[in-house]
Amino acid sequence: MVDRSSPPTRPPLSAASLTLRLAGIAVVVAAVAGAFAYVNGTLDPQRLTPKKLINVLETNNGVHPGFRRNHSKGVCVIGHFESSGEARSYSTAQVFNETQTPVVGRFALGSGNPYAPDSAAPIRSMALRFTQANGQQWRTGMNSMPVFPVGTPEAFYQLQQAQSPLPATGKPDPAAVPAFFGAHPEAAPFLAWIKTAKPSASYVTETYNSVNAFYLVSATGQRQAVRWSMVPVTQDAPGAAVPQGSDFLEKDLVQRIAAGPLVWQLNIILANPGDPVNDASKAWPEGRKVLNAGTLVLEKTQPQLNGECRDINYDPLVLPAGIEGSDDPLLATRSAGYANSYLRRTSEVSQLPAAKQEAQQ
Ligand code: HEM
Repeated sequence: MVDRSSPPTRPPLSAASLTLRLAGIAVVVAAVAGAFAYVNGTLDPQRLTPKKLINVLETNNGVHPGFRRNHSKGVCVIGHFESSGEARSYSTAQVFNETQTPVVGRFALGSGNPYAPDSAAPIRSMALRFTQANGQQWRTGMNSMPVFPVGTPEAFYQLQQAQSPLPATGKPDPAAVPAFFGAHPEAAPFLAWIKTAKPSASYVTETYNSVNAFYLVSATGQRQAVRWSMVPVTQDAPGAAVPQGSDFLEKDLVQRIAAGPLVWQLNIILANPGDPVNDASKAWPEGRKVLNAGTLVLEKTQPQLNGECRDINYDPLVLPAGIEGSDDPLLATRSAGYANSYLRRTSEVSQLPAAKQEAQQ
């Protein structure tokens, strides 16, 4: 008979085998800790992490709970895109093939301070999320500047550091930004633009540029490098009066949209062979072929505090099949940085003063 009254006993572990097992566990724990330390940047303090990038934006602009860490002051818009069919042979993306694609967008001021007056920065932005019938999305964030000041994430970080307040004075070193630009001749096209750029009176009359390059991919797998621009159909007469006050951009937009839909044309600029596709600080020469891919129609606005755009991360690498990112290093950095900013702002409660919140509802 088999004795079932007591469980079978295992022979005791020898000291050597116990040590081996414990060592095995220690190796696994060390590997996991090492992986966390690598991702966190602890192993290499020189490495530029998304956390460092967003921290420096907070150092320069202050922490404003609930708000984006850059382009913080904005307004949501709702509308749709009507394809012209002209980009169809270059890209399989449904957005260029369907008659209409719904859009949730956001206009913003290029500043990390949600309370900045609209005259504080000449840079305005338009971000769009197209949702295709097949569920795939195209998200794009465009700026009114035609080129970026620098071509690498490291240089962008150094430019932010040059603008950081010094602990001793609480103000940035006035020599730091000129010194930065002195050491970065690639910024010349941006500096030439900013010299003449005036804060505009309206979001509606601006052109917004992808700045970074992407690829359109055709049904046969052909890849065409492109940049794109949203060009306004509405233009004010030259010399139109600039509204007074610090919040004129949103008021102007709300007023104009109440009078009827606002319209932009999506121009897709095709690179020639040899045009730089991995450097957003370099403009492409004039004379490139331009597709009129269709029309953006914006029909209503919503306050950003409770509008549909509030919880969208306009990550430029969320792309449908038929559009691909280029190897411009700023794209991956934007993607990671926006995610970090998104995590911070969506886990905070907005502290916009109560009176202003009521006014926006
Ligand atoms: C390394 C370079 C860059 C960094 C670190 C950076 C950082 C940021 C951050 C943190 C946000 C807020 C994201 C959020 O909370 O959802 C933002 C917004 C934005 N950025 Fe950048 N950015 C960079 C380069 C660019 C470039 C090259 C463009 C060119 C078009 C651009 C266009 C925009 C736009 C349009 C928005 C507003 C998006 C919205 O309305 O939600 N950025 N940026």
